[in-house]
Amino acid sequence: MKNNNTKIALATLAAATAIFTGCASHCGHHCCSLSARHDGAKLFGTAPDGAPVWLYTLHNKNGATARIITYGGIIQSLEMPDKNGKFGDVVLGYNYLDGYVTNSPYFGALIGRYGNRIAKGHFTLDGVTYTIATNNFPNTLHGGVKGFDKVIWHVDASSPNSLSLSYASHDGEEGYPGNLNVKAVYTLTDENAIKLEYTATSDKDTVVNLTQHSYFNLAGRGDILSHIVYLDADKFTPVDSTLIPTGELRPVDGTPFDFRTATAIGARIGQDDEQLKFGKGYDHNWVINHPMGELGLDARVTEPTTGRVLEVWSTEPGLQFYSGNFLDGTIQGKGGRVYQFRNGFCMEPQHFPDSPNHDNFPSVVLHPGQTYHNTIVYKFSDQ
Ligand code: GLA
Repeated sequence: MKNNNTKIALATLAAATAIFTGCASHCGHHCCSLSARHDGAKLFGTAPDGAPVWLYTLHNKNGATARIITYGGIIQSLEMPDKNGKFGDVVLGYNYLDGYVTNSPYFGALIGRYGNRIAKGHFTLDGVTYTIATNNFPNTLHGGVKGFDKVIWHVDASSPNSLSLSYASHDGEEGYPGNLNVKAVYTLTDENAIKLEYTATSDKDTVVNLTQHSYFNLAGRGDILSHIVYLDADKFTPVDSTLIPTGELRPVDGTPFDFRTATAIGARIGQDDEQLKFGKGYDHNWVINHPMGELGLDARVTEPTTGRVLEVWSTEPGLQFYSGNFLDGTIQGKGGRVYQFRNGFCMEPQHFPDSPNHDNFPSVVLHPGQTYHNTIVYKFSDQ
């Protein structure tokens, strides 16, 4: 008991010290308290290692907001208007840090060093075989055991509508080679878009694939099966039973993966199709038609009852469309809402899963002296 009390006292002291240190490095005398920073950030919680986690609220001229926390670079909420001008939160997540730390299927998180799966946690680069942390048997998912979604990001700058975060991932972290310096700039534009600009540099050859893992629900509740999806993709990458691409680029023609004509998510999700069975629904990478490296429209999703529209723009060659098939009613999120099967969907622009093990996929190798770039825009409107 005494031991426990001492531990709690020490943890509280560590948290308070960390908070004051955070303040001191960001502002001078008397400009921040235990719960707020001079730049408007609010204390969201204290991470397991005692470090403070800050919440930044971005605003635009229309009254839209984006809340971002420094743990995992997580988009904690996105309030956007519907066709009647009524604002509502269109992403899933938690009101408290504890949920994100202890039980989150990557709600809203910045994913890295490698988005999606790497087969059996192995890849070979420059003749060296690397073994990375496996966390999704038998594969590595979203970086490993402690991916970029579980680290605290440093705040480089903030303004009323933007936030610049950075993270220095050390050589050997989760098994990946090279010290990787990552920057993520979030901007809430007056066009009701949240724009994410990721850049990274490394001091050794390495692999990088960053993305964003928001779970959207444009109605703000219920399942997402009546959301209507358009995808700019003639092909997708079929997977094996562990969701690793087989290497094939398969035409979508005549399959439930053809979203070139806007179709409800639920229209074909229950079809007797091996790929849908492997994914328990949609959990696949589409090969995006527009040129890689140029910002183009990947996807357009509309929700008939609220009239909300989400456009996904990116510079990436692939898009992982995931229909929330692992949500199972065991998570109680914001506002006490229980997240049932397929209550949210993700649109994750990225390079293809398991690219380091497929020579025919666009390369994910980053060399020293080069800068990795990835821009993702989630733009909201109504119709
Ligand atoms: C990605 C994966 C899914 C699942 C979710 C997180 O979208 O492709 O299989 O792991 O992340 O639950």
